[in-house]
Amino acid sequence: MRDDTRLTRLGRPHDERGQVNPSVARGSTMLAASADTLYNFPEGRTHYGRVGLETHNALRGALTELQGGAGTSLTSSGLMANTLSILASVEAGGRVLAADCIYGPVRSFLTNVLPRYGVTAEFFAPDMGAQIADLITDDVQAILLESPGSLTMELQDIPAVTKVAREKGVITIIDDTWSAGLTLKPLQLGVDYAAQALTKYVGGHSDLLLGAVVARDEALFNRLQSTERSFGFHTGPDDVYLALRGLRSMAVRMERSFQSSLTIADWLKSRPEVGHILHPAHEDHPQNALFKRDFSGGCGLFSVEFPGWDIPRSERFLDALEVFGMGFSWGGYESLAIHCDPQLKRTKTAQKHDGALIRFSIGMEAPEDLIADLEKGLAAASA
Ligand SMILES: Cc1ncc(COP(=O)(O)O)c(C=O)c1O
Repeated sequence: MRDDTRLTRLGRPHDERGQVNPSVARGSTMLAASADTLYNFPEGRTHYGRVGLETHNALRGALTELQGGAGTSLTSSGLMANTLSILASVEAGGRVLAADCIYGPVRSFLTNVLPRYGVTAEFFAPDMGAQIADLITDDVQAILLESPGSLTMELQDIPAVTKVAREKGVITIIDDTWSAGLTLKPLQLGVDYAAQALTKYVGGHSDLLLGAVVARDEALFNRLQSTERSFGFHTGPDDVYLALRGLRSMAVRMERSFQSSLTIADWLKSRPEVGHILHPAHEDHPQNALFKRDFSGGCGLFSVEFPGWDIPRSERFLDALEVFGMGFSWGGYESLAIHCDPQLKRTKTAQKHDGALIRFSIGMEAPEDLIADLEKGLAAASA
């Protein structure tokens, strides 16, 4: 079956109760049937609520199947999906190689927290592909990708990196929130841990914070799950239920946002104020060939260069928008725009874009209304 169909079926009870959806199962205490089962709960029964109940199992199962992995851990945020994957992969004395375009708070975790536990990080040029082999010294334990990077939209050559990493015994992690595990299948391209913020397209309604990590094989999953359980991480069943509900309509929402984003990108490209369109699916993107090779579709998140613009001009543009909101998340039903420059923190490679970089998350509105809004913004920026 195709993914659109699978999204309507995965994680559903399919039992004699006839419920279409699993229940929201709340619980800490789980009672044993008899004293002799207290320390030996029967197969399939959970001994304590922290490890998750029926609703958690439904979402974990659905994500595992969607990505073709061996198992999934749920996390209380997308940030924690990244940090849990890293914690499951490293030990004292090790080093992490991370693409220079990764999400800022993950960068902070690598540079501010991990060194306290004896693990250091080095950043690499996102487009270096198989040449990453030159950076893999004996102490490198994990490579962290985010493709496309959620601000600069840089793609990484995932199969080239995972091939080298596998040969050298290094674990690979990707933040694949942009694809939501739907339009890219990182585990099939050799990635070990696929982490994502369910907060974005899976949730889809800007009312949820949650994350997930899908592990490629059993051994990686055991490592991930034992790390998750030892730290005591837990997610609430109401949030888990919302994510499962979001999954049902995700393919349709993403496709609508994707198509609208391409219409808007084409319109922007026709405007004299605009430089490069950094949408992986747009032919203007310098790595469009990688997108075509690895992805089966896209979403509504992309960035645009405005050559010669400074921050006050970007602010005039943003302040004039009425349909677009300004906010740091994405993947919701409502369109958003932000200027990115104040939060770009690269250390390895210089920022390549010309002028201001503005990021758009295209939601469910009619593209005509969004274009009319952008026209107002451009007029205000030129005034
Ligand atoms: C690429 C990416 N990963 C992770 C996150 C973090 O997700 P959360 O807000 O659920 O922690 C974000 C949030 O913007 C993101 O853009």
